[in-house]
Amino acid sequence: MSRDQKFFDMYSLVIGVLAAIALAILVLAMKMSDLTQGVYTRDAAEYQAAVAQRIAPVGEVYLPGEEQESSAPVVRAAAEPEPVAAALSGPQVYNTACIACHSTGVGGAPVVGDAAQWTDRIAQGMDLLKQHAIEGFTGSAGFMPAKGGRIDLSDEEVAIAVDYMVGESS
Ligand code: HEC
Repeated sequence: MSRDQKFFDMYSLVIGVLAAIALAILVLAMKMSDLTQGVYTRDAAEYQAAVAQRIAPVGEVYLPGEEQESSAPVVRAAAEPEPVAAALSGPQVYNTACIACHSTGVGGAPVVGDAAQWTDRIAQGMDLLKQHAIEGFTGSAGFMPAKGGRIDLSDEEVAIAVDYMVGESS
């Protein structure tokens, strides 16, 4: 029993020492590669050329009379901005986005052309009417979705549609 114990102790010690040596070699190898490999790589002409290219300034200053190198940056004209879709007119917006509810009074919508349904609303002031049309509005009559559900319309387009609707209804 005591011989077994002795063997086990010895065995553990040897394993431990070997592991320590392996670790030491690993650390030494890393240190060595750091000291040698890195230096050689950084001294290499290709490496230095690559770095010089990476950190080269984007532009260069040429004085009058100086030759311009072919590597000079090419200045491209800014791309033409995409033409913005022409804004819709009041009747156009009304006929595409609002008519579904406001021509017949769907869901309690005030009918365009029926002045009686609009007098109280107009009395609130045009700014509030436009705000309700743009942001949406739930009153006693029903639910008016923001921009009539057409969130692709601009605030101005909805506002001129309100102008048109009110003009037709008073
Ligand atoms: C889905 C149906 C629906 C569509 C589409 C719709 N509306 Fe309405 N709208 C309503 C209803 C319902 C009301 C009434 C809400 C209330 O007073 O309870 C209303 C009310 C309004 C009012 C009066 C708000 C107030 O303060 O009294 C304006 C202005 C208006 N709509 C403008 C528009 C415009 C402009 C469009 C198109 C861009 C549009 N609506 C599209 C249903 C609709």
